[in-house]
Amino acid sequence: MFIFFAEFSASLGFGKLNDAMATPKKTVRDLQARGKRVLVRCDFNVPLEGSTITDDRRIREALPTIRHLAEAGARVILCSHLGRPKGVTPEFSLAPVAARLGELLGKPVNLAPDCVGPTAKAAVEALGDGEVLLLENVRFHPEEEKNDPVFAAELAALAELYVNDAFGTAHRAHASTEGVAHILPGVSGFLIEKELKYLGEALGNPGRPFVGILGGAKVKDKITVIDELLPKVDHLIIGGGMAFTFLKAKGYEIGKSLLDESNIEYAAKVLAESGDKILLPTDTVITTELTDTATTQVVASDAIPADHMGADIGPATLARFREVILAAKTVLWNGPMGVFEMTPFEAGTRGVAQAMADSEAITIVGGGDSAAAVDQFGLSDEMTHVSTGGGASLEFLEGKVLPGIAALQDA
Ligand code: 3PG
Repeated sequence: MFIFFAEFSASLGFGKLNDAMATPKKTVRDLQARGKRVLVRCDFNVPLEGSTITDDRRIREALPTIRHLAEAGARVILCSHLGRPKGVTPEFSLAPVAARLGELLGKPVNLAPDCVGPTAKAAVEALGDGEVLLLENVRFHPEEEKNDPVFAAELAALAELYVNDAFGTAHRAHASTEGVAHILPGVSGFLIEKELKYLGEALGNPGRPFVGILGGAKVKDKITVIDELLPKVDHLIIGGGMAFTFLKAKGYEIGKSLLDESNIEYAAKVLAESGDKILLPTDTVITTELTDTATTQVVASDAIPADHMGADIGPATLARFREVILAAKTVLWNGPMGVFEMTPFEAGTRGVAQAMADSEAITIVGGGDSAAAVDQFGLSDEMTHVSTGGGASLEFLEGKVLPGIAALQDA
């Protein structure tokens, strides 16, 4: 058994993914886990309001691997980070995650007070076959982010086998995502397998027409993705804040809209080379203030008044984008079309999400803001795949090696 992505990556022009990403990896199916202590790195970095989890998707997506190991009779030791604490910080405790996991699994999940040291060791020793334990936040120890070998060895000493299922953190070379894989035999979990299947298939073997949709604020953050996607897609839709730099590059007046000044030249070059593939907004929702009660107008994208800013794509643009999405066989989306968190500017992002939901294409939503948007509109279940990785899915789309995956055992 191995990660599906690797099957076609070698043969279908993943020139930029180096061997570490293209080599097939063992998965959790390859483990003889009965009676064994298995350390599983999850990404339980979920949004919290107080101690209430406002989006538990990352926890739900980890369930197949956890259930598989528990049913196989393993002693399942889960670990994760939560937030970016500096030392032990009670508000970053994984206690709410342990409680939610227990509800979802239908059995209690104890939280060890630490991820290493005597309390962690005692909690692990008390585990029976098929039982699940969660260790406290690995980032309570600064050694985690430093990928400290002594700390990695302490974590590894708790277990005999290692599974990485933390796709959202696979772009970090930290002790629990990378270091331990050099000490324990490490394989991927089902979530990483699924993420690589959908993201990898879109890049390597897409059904056509293949439509990429990019949005978000800055061109600078998306340059490598644009360069990676352009040769592969049939159409690249560009919306959101970053579109204004492209409109500026066309010589349009963009008023006070977001501008990535240092990348106007880059945008002009991309338009000159691949302009026929790129779809930009032709009308824009403008305003003078970004508030929930703002007054808006729709104007042509080449006629934004000097004292206004664009905050969403307009209805004619949405209709055109929708048409292209509905005709596609594969759609990959990363980045909102406007300031979707505010009601006056949500229509473009909502419309694109709805078009993807209505489309018969394979629809893949990159993590982060676009995943939050489809969730906000209640459309997550209508997508083929919503990635659990924000930074990780972006780095994957950029063709970069994800160290947490590269360190796993080859199949
Ligand atoms: C994420 O939410 O993108 C991951 O959990 C990684 O978190 P980090 O950016 O704090 O490393």
